[in-house]
Amino acid sequence: MKNLKVAFYVTGGIAVYKSVNLMRELIKRGAEVKVAMTTSATEFVTPLTFQVLSKHAVHIDTFSEEDPQYVQHIHLADWADIAIVAPATANTIAKLANGIGDNFVTSALMATTSPIFLVPAMNEHMLEHPATQQNIRTLKSRKAYVMEPDTGFLAEGYSGKGRFPESEMIIEELEGYLLAYKGERPLKGKKIVVTAGGTKERIDPVRFISNDSSGKMGHALADAAWKKGAEVTLITASTLPTRKQIKRVQVDSAKEMYNHVNESFETLDVLIMAAAVSDYAPLNQEEHKMKKKNNVTIELQKNPDILKEMGQKKVNQFLVGFAAETENIEAYALKKLKEKHADLIVANDVGKKDRGFNTNDNEVTIYSNVDQPVTISLTKKDEIAENIIDIVIDRTE
Ligand code: PMT
Repeated sequence: MKNLKVAFYVTGGIAVYKSVNLMRELIKRGAEVKVAMTTSATEFVTPLTFQVLSKHAVHIDTFSEEDPQYVQHIHLADWADIAIVAPATANTIAKLANGIGDNFVTSALMATTSPIFLVPAMNEHMLEHPATQQNIRTLKSRKAYVMEPDTGFLAEGYSGKGRFPESEMIIEELEGYLLAYKGERPLKGKKIVVTAGGTKERIDPVRFISNDSSGKMGHALADAAWKKGAEVTLITASTLPTRKQIKRVQVDSAKEMYNHVNESFETLDVLIMAAAVSDYAPLNQEEHKMKKKNNVTIELQKNPDILKEMGQKKVNQFLVGFAAETENIEAYALKKLKEKHADLIVANDVGKKDRGFNTNDNEVTIYSNVDQPVTISLTKKDEIAENIIDIVIDRTE
């Protein structure tokens, strides 16, 4: 979103109050936003609110041409990298689909050659009306992006489809749309499975053996792969959120994780094992909460080594494993690369407090059979993930 020039068109529905927050979120992410409103939109929220927050005058009247240098609605359309219509009412959608430019917003949209992203919000029956549905289809056929409205409690007092989605959801979808629009989707058509988080091995209904993995590294990798166009499944033992375009499979134990990876393995292109899989699980899981005793012995049995097993059965799949080490990092990483038949091993030092487990940052060295090791110095896990995915792209092209 950084430096993205957004022409933000606000049309008249109750969801206008929510679009204020959407605009703020865009600005927070580095976008420059200029707003135009229909007169109906100004009935719900005053232009001053948008002006103060965007730090630009708000356009409403096509004919108040205060700067003789420019025709304002054409100038705004030409200036923007993207036009966002939020909320987009049935009326404005209809006008846009039928080439009507009878106010500042619709005239500017008619003059727009940059991508158009619409966030419809209206009453459910208005949304379902055949005319609205036909108009949405028309706009989509012209390559405008029309977001699916949310379902839930409507201003009318009943539940239905037509709600303005949460800002986070809109921004996630917008990011994907922008990447697709720019054609930066080298992983399009590729199926990638990422594992994340520390597995939990149950002792009894309330106790388990686990580790410090937060899932941040795995979730960042899933996100980075999705941004590059992959069809991503995230098999996670973490409670961190996921964007809705990523298929999420929630698991607890190593065995559950194994089953899901194994099920999908034949059809996937890339497997990234960022999860901290417990090497052992209690041999027996107690049905009821264990009662206190002075000494307790829990017998453990070895869990399946998911990466190793997939390494043995791989055909064309590209395997990325991690190595969480506290000493002899290079030697152990190279051993894992060989023994697990991985294509890449991402080694991290988990003995340091500022990286590895449950931190926002990491430092890794990536080992492979074909290239020299690549070190990515201490930085955000998001950035590490992007670098790893770029290497995956290079190696799988
Ligand atoms: O989740 P975060 O808080 O962000 O922390 C990130 C991380 C430190 C967990 C991550 O960067 C990391 O190192 N993940 C791998 C942790 C691990 O289990 O490492 P390992 O060296 O024990 O295992 C080697 C590889 O085999 C790993 O890819 C692991 O997923 C896999 N493995 C391990 C055991 C097992 N039974 N099955 C496996 O597939």
